[in-house]
Amino acid sequence: MDAVSELKSNRQFGLLVLPGDGIGPEIVDQALRIVAWFGDYLGVRFNIEQALVGGASIDEHGEPITETVMEKALRADAVLFGAVGGPKWDHLPRAVRPEMGILRLRKDLDLFANLRPAVNFPEIVGASSLRPELVDSIDIMIVRESTSGVYFGEPRGIKTDEKGLRSAVDTQAYSETEIERVCRAAFEIARRRGSRLCSVDKANVMETGVLWRSVVTEIGQEYADVELSHMYADNCAMQLLREPKQFDVIVTDNLFGDILSDEAAALSGSLGLLPSATLDMADPKRPRRALYEPIHGTAPDIAGKGIANPLASILSFGMCLEYSLNEPAAAGMLKQSINRALAQGLRTADIAVFGEEVVSGEAITDAILAGLDEVTAGTQKALQS
Ligand code: IPM
Ligand code: MG
Repeated sequence: MDAVSELKSNRQFGLLVLPGDGIGPEIVDQALRIVAWFGDYLGVRFNIEQALVGGASIDEHGEPITETVMEKALRADAVLFGAVGGPKWDHLPRAVRPEMGILRLRKDLDLFANLRPAVNFPEIVGASSLRPELVDSIDIMIVRESTSGVYFGEPRGIKTDEKGLRSAVDTQAYSETEIERVCRAAFEIARRRGSRLCSVDKANVMETGVLWRSVVTEIGQEYADVELSHMYADNCAMQLLREPKQFDVIVTDNLFGDILSDEAAALSGSLGLLPSATLDMADPKRPRRALYEPIHGTAPDIAGKGIANPLASILSFGMCLEYSLNEPAAAGMLKQSINRALAQGLRTADIAVFGEEVVSGEAITDAILAGLDEVTAGTQKALQS
């Protein structure tokens, strides 16, 4: 064994798997089959531990995430997350709802840069509600701030006055440091892609927007090679539908990022296709802390039927290959195998257009695994000859 393969075969990677609720467990199960395949292929030993989060954790422990699970997450090399929430827990007060599980992970692990790619899969361009020529080669990366803003700002709450009338308050607050670090992450990403960054805010209405715009403009001076533009969030919502190909990288706050990333996902044809990576600060002295999750939710109406699309979860592991394991070529192989499965006509219900046969999440994963086997068999053959 040469030195490189020996080093590879000694690699250990702690992966904390939090399937969550609804379709979370079934899509994560399929993603874990892909994890196992790449473990063998790359010679990485994935130390996988599974735990409860969201409604599943509320049912068992009375809270959306326990301290024990938080500690495991802090120690893991990465977290592979499914989805949380569902009608069963909708009546609960906000502080103990399933969603607090993911919000606490983002906050306490300081995962402030939420990367949400919106790409088009050529084989299923017809699944998008937009005309094919508008979406056929979109490749947008939304960088959403994910530890601050209105999601976490204080004060917040609902109170009742002496007349019995209720009022509610949320606070949108951003510090310069919080804006700076996510914008830097976005500039770095733009630099490695199409070198265009569009910063999205509501500087015409919000103080946080004014500060956001001024900080990103200042930092932009250090990234002269990246073309920086600004857009109001409402206009961006419209431009994403009007001419999505104008965008390369978008950076925005927590709430606008939540909304715009769902909208951008629809360009691909289905929320069931799109992954995300949520990262902390890059530090050359240690591996980046990271959480990988599909951007879709728990889809309780189809949970447990085996029909959910596992591609977003599988592609989330693909982002783990890229960002945590530093294996972009492996991530590329995975994407290729997904395209191959789609080219063979395999469609889960969410991406099938009228008349197309629908297959289970397991069947599409089988096809991806077969594709991966075929690619590696081909490489070995080429090496032998
Ligand atoms: C997302 C989700 C979450 C969010 C929910 C589940 C709290 O919509 O990841 O986009 O609002 O951030
Ligand atoms: Mg969302």
